[in-house]
Amino acid sequence: MAVDTPRRTPTGKLPEPDLGTGLIPKERYLTPEFMALEWDRLWTRVWNLACPLSDIPDVGDYFAFELGPESIIVVRSEPDRVRAFYNTCQHRGRRLREAGTGHAPELQCPYHLWTYGLDGRVTSAPDADDFPQGDPTEGVCLADLPCEAWNGWVFVNMDPDAAPLHDFLGPLPEHLDPYDFGAQYHLVEDISMLWECNWKVGVDAFNEVYHVQGIHPELLSFTDDVDCPIDILGNHSRFLFRVGYPSPRWTDELARREGYRDRNQVTAMMRVIMEGAGLDADQFDGRLDEVRPALFEARREHGRRNGLAYGALTDEQLTDDFHYFIFPNITLNISADHFWFFRHRPHPTDPERMFWEFQTYVRLPPGVDPPPRPDRIDCVFGDGTERKLHLALQQDAAAAPPVQAGMRSRGYEGLYLAHQERRIRHFHRVLDQYLFGG
Ligand code: FES
Ligand SMILES: [Fe+2]
Repeated sequence: MAVDTPRRTPTGKLPEPDLGTGLIPKERYLTPEFMALEWDRLWTRVWNLACPLSDIPDVGDYFAFELGPESIIVVRSEPDRVRAFYNTCQHRGRRLREAGTGHAPELQCPYHLWTYGLDGRVTSAPDADDFPQGDPTEGVCLADLPCEAWNGWVFVNMDPDAAPLHDFLGPLPEHLDPYDFGAQYHLVEDISMLWECNWKVGVDAFNEVYHVQGIHPELLSFTDDVDCPIDILGNHSRFLFRVGYPSPRWTDELARREGYRDRNQVTAMMRVIMEGAGLDADQFDGRLDEVRPALFEARREHGRRNGLAYGALTDEQLTDDFHYFIFPNITLNISADHFWFFRHRPHPTDPERMFWEFQTYVRLPPGVDPPPRPDRIDCVFGDGTERKLHLALQQDAAAAPPVQAGMRSRGYEGLYLAHQERRIRHFHRVLDQYLFGG
């Protein structure tokens, strides 16, 4: 009898394109001209992730968000239909809704009370017969834009002639469908933070692990930042970050400096990981090669006991950080039980500022009610909110503004990238294809 094997995320190494060796010129991080070019040729032509479908579960739910100078509202108009509109009243142009989630059986503009149905049509307007050019209820509509869903997320595209989302995603569904984000994971944390840097400084920072030894040295005893396979996936990319094994950079000397006997002693962080999986950490002292196989088995058992749908995931996915970048501005750190979502959003007017959005989603067993959606925290890096973040993210956030500041120097021309930073090079190549063609 044939048995259905769930499709699994490919983990084999893929061939890579030649990405060249040139400097990435710094002007793209600094100038209003480059920012304008990005607006005209990237943001208004690319598929942009709007929100998780879980933000708009019921008819009448909406999610409004800002992207550069634009604001878009995504609406659940029918049980199985989601539409996207520019968030602008067609009367005198007032923005209809502030950014965020909400519910309304129809969208009424607060200014002169024009009311729109969930299909975008004007359904009522005071003194509707006072418009000599035509009653607005007889055909005026919100301006809509292409809108599609995949794997629990809604995407929109400001290009009315956009190719289908599936074409844009390329190999990503094959890689990420096994996680089944929409059904298995639930939003529990939502922060938007103003950073004093260009949005691409944010993207770049999350596309390499070369900086781990510099700003996250505490990760070295339990993650491998050296053997970290990279794959280019069409417009997108990923790396696989092994957890539960020390970096080659975690040397005996470094371990001794941190108070350990040698690099093979179980560190405090390694102990947290093992004990979290129900393993006796002391059993593994000096035998760190055996930690990952034990973690695979322990986590598989944890899934069985707790009814977690791990069936489509490989052993490595149960333990490691599967790190995906969805062009142009989404970063995902995915593990079996949770994932981190980062969006690097351009500022509406200033090329040297960005909004860094951070969300955490956790996996729950089927049938368990998810927690209520958390309110979004809007903040500015430096106001203290960053202390709520995981230490590594505090370090990433602190590292970004000095990069922007340094780039302004007359003594700097552009990014001189290592081979292990080639996801950054690839990102800029795809960006260039949008901006300059070819
Ligand atoms: S601007 Fe919206 S009703 Fe007038
Ligand atoms: Fe980092």
